[in-house]
Amino acid sequence: MTDRNLEELYQAIYKRKSIRKYKEEKLNENELGGITDFLAQTRELYPEIKYEAKIVNSEAVKSLLPIKAPHYLQFFSEAKGDYLLNAGFILQQLDLYLSAENLGSCWFGMAKPKKEIIAESDLEYVITLVFGRPAEASQRDSIEDFDRKPLAEIKQGNQHYDLLEAARLAPSATNGQPWYFITESERIHLYQLEPNFIKKFFYEKMNRIDMGIALAHLWLAAEEHGQNFEFTKLDQSPAPVENYNYLGTVKL
Ligand SMILES: Cc1cc2nc3c(=O)[nH]c(=O)nc-3n(C[C@H](O)[C@H](O)[C@H](O)COP(=O)(O)O)c2cc1C
Repeated sequence: MTDRNLEELYQAIYKRKSIRKYKEEKLNENELGGITDFLAQTRELYPEIKYEAKIVNSEAVKSLLPIKAPHYLQFFSEAKGDYLLNAGFILQQLDLYLSAENLGSCWFGMAKPKKEIIAESDLEYVITLVFGRPAEASQRDSIEDFDRKPLAEIKQGNQHYDLLEAARLAPSATNGQPWYFITESERIHLYQLEPNFIKKFFYEKMNRIDMGIALAHLWLAAEEHGQNFEFTKLDQSPAPVENYNYLGTVKL
C-alpha cells in the first residue's frame, strides 16, 4: 500500500461510522475493481493464514436481515492460529477505505451466508461486511460524535496517546469496546475483556474480531507517527488486569 493510501485510511479513523441505510443501486465496475485491488494489498497480521473474500448480493445471504445493502462481503479464513484477529485486522482496512471513498459499510455479525456458499469453500466462514452507496450522512464531523468509553477507562500508562486514541475509536460488535491497554515507553500491551458466562457464546468470536479491528487502528496510527509495529505474544502476561485477559504486545 502506498503512503498516501495509508494516510487516507488513518484520516478515516476520525470520521467513519457504520452505515445501515443504502441506495439500492450497485456500485460500478470501477468502484468494485478498486475494492478488490485494495483488498489484495491490505496488510495481514499473519500472512501464513489463508483467507478469501467473496462479494455477493442479497440472494447469497441467509434469511431476512435488518440491513439491506447492495453488496455483502463474506469473509472466509483458514481456522488456524489467531485467525479472528487477522480477519478483524484485514477487513477494518477495507471499512476505512470505503469511508475514505465516501462509500458506506457496516460490520454484520448477524449475517450468515446460505448453506451452499458455506459448502463451496474449504475455509471457515468468519463474518460479513455490508457496503454500498450511503443513503444517510456517511461521515462524522468530529470525535465528539463517537459514542466511546473515555481513554482513562481503558488504559494504564501515559505514553502513546495518539495511538491509543485511534484504537479507542474503533468499531466493535454492539459497541462493546472489549479492549484495554497498558503502555510502556516502547510497547503497548493489549488485553481483551473476558465475556461473562451468558454472553460468551456470541461474544467470544466477535470480541476477538473487535481486537483485530483495534489493532488495525493502532497500526495505522503507528505508521502515521513513524513508529514500528510488531505484534507478538509474550510468554507471560505483563500484569494482571481484572476482568481482562492478556492478548499480545505491540512493539513500537
Ligand atoms: C464484529 C462486529 C460485528 C457487528 N455486527 C453488527 C450487526 O450484526 N448489526 C449491526 O447493525 N451492527 C453491527 N456492528 C456495528 C456496531 O454496532 C458498530 O460498529 C458500533 O455500534 C459502533 O458504531 P460505529 O461503527 O458507527 O462507530 C458490528 C460491528 C463489529 C465490529
